[in-house]
Amino acid sequence: PVPVIAIDGPSASGKGTVAARVAEALGWHYLDSGSLYRLVALAGMRAGVALDDEARLAGIAAALPVSFEGGRIWLEGKDVTEDIRAEACSVGASKVAALPAVREALLDRQRDYRAAPGLVAEGRDIGSVVFPDAQLKVFLTASAEARAERRYKQLMEKGMAASMESLLRDLQERDARDAARPVAPLKQLPDAELLDTTQMDVKQAVSFVLERVPA
Ligand code: CDP
Repeated sequence: PVPVIAIDGPSASGKGTVAARVAEALGWHYLDSGSLYRLVALAGMRAGVALDDEARLAGIAAALPVSFEGGRIWLEGKDVTEDIRAEACSVGASKVAALPAVREALLDRQRDYRAAPGLVAEGRDIGSVVFPDAQLKVFLTASAEARAERRYKQLMEKGMAASMESLLRDLQERDARDAARPVAPLKQLPDAELLDTTQMDVKQAVSFVLERVPA
């Protein structure tokens, strides 16, 4: 089968950056599964759908008119690359991600990314649900404080407003929701390598993963 590297972990742990760089280094495809949940939340909010309306949100997820082209994310032909990173979308994504029918509706879309020569996929349930047969599973984490600080810097660089206090609180709330939900909760799998990046830079984290890619 086409090899998959599954990188799961909590919010703002840096898995996006690490996974994208690993994919680039290997020349493999890359899947940011969180962006799909963010897109469902954004499309739902724009259509005035309540973020607990499971049936309608699952319909949106199944039909999601999204394209990933030129390094940008397009929803119905509009560039939403920045919009989906806004804090309202982070919170919304974590709510729609708790709905089993939404997760189910996104499953095939995620599995379609598995293509030669290989795939690096990141999220919460990649190693447990989407690709349980992944050749390498990594649980990438960092302390809540380190993660809030990283998210803060990211937002500042983009000129977006943020407060450390509310970011930390949001992170902890989302962590709790991700871990407590009955479907596909975030957890460290027994067959996953633990990568704690609290004291690590991106380069070290990328090397950690690359050193473990099965030949
Ligand atoms: O960047 P951050 O980690 O904050 O968020 P993300 O990876 O873009 O994911 C956004 C939300 O989608 C998370 O809060 C999770 O609740 C959810 N998610 C999920 O449930 N399963 C995945 N495979 C990926 C994301």
